[in-house]
Amino acid sequence: MGLGSSWRVVYESYKKIVKFYERANLLVTFGNVDRWRREAIGLFYQLDGKNPLRVLDAGAGPGNMARHIRGVKYVVALDATAEMLRANDVADDKVVGLFEYMPFRSRCFDVVLAGYSLHAAVDFEKAVAEFSRVAEYQVAVSIGKPDNIIARGLLYFYTRYILPRLACIVAPRGVCDEYGKIFVIVKSQMPNSLVKRTIEKYATSLVFKTRGLGGVYMYVAKSRR
Ligand SMILES: C[S@@+](CC[C@H](N)C(=O)[O-])C[C@H]1O[C@@H](n2cnc3c(N)ncnc32)[C@H](O)[C@@H]1O
Repeated sequence: MGLGSSWRVVYESYKKIVKFYERANLLVTFGNVDRWRREAIGLFYQLDGKNPLRVLDAGAGPGNMARHIRGVKYVVALDATAEMLRANDVADDKVVGLFEYMPFRSRCFDVVLAGYSLHAAVDFEKAVAEFSRVAEYQVAVSIGKPDNIIARGLLYFYTRYILPRLACIVAPRGVCDEYGKIFVIVKSQMPNSLVKRTIEKYATSLVFKTRGLGGVYMYVAKSRR
């Protein structure tokens, strides 16, 4: 499962929102957007302990995920949208490309990071298989879909009726309208339990957690050789 043909719509959105992106994200997640990125990376440090040297930031956008990796590092930012990469001041190298067809040799990274990007995969399983091929560890935080039916209903309501209005407080009309598409994204996701099972086909899941009623999941996994 994945966004399939809706992906074009989402891709166009990224081009438009880049300027107001983090400000709107902060509001619609009630201040949690970066805390959850840091939490996912913190989980990785707790499990592995050492600073990764070779880092791939997948769906890097402005680099908000790799920013939290400490110490000396070599960061490659991969993104399908050149406009988002242009705003990236963290990466040593920038590559326009897709998760599903990564232009990298196997195991050339210590860790692949994916901050709020996996939900936009055209083919989720292929993306995770590629993450497992190119890096030893994967650390992701992403929009999810709760397994619990009540939580799912609440999330649908929030993303359909409230979230786009909140985004409009900090972003101009043409931009905040794009946040209306988050409802489409949430609906198109597989449930979080199936996300975990799919990851486990290619990697050993070390930790998998949900936040915000299950509207966000984060995981750390060690790829299988
Ligand atoms: C919401 S932004 C996240 C940016 C950043 N990682 C963060 O933590 O804020 C999602 C990014 O993923 C990229 N993206 C979405 N689907 C992709 C795919 N299949 N392959 C590569 N990049 C993709 C988009 O272009 C966009 O820049």
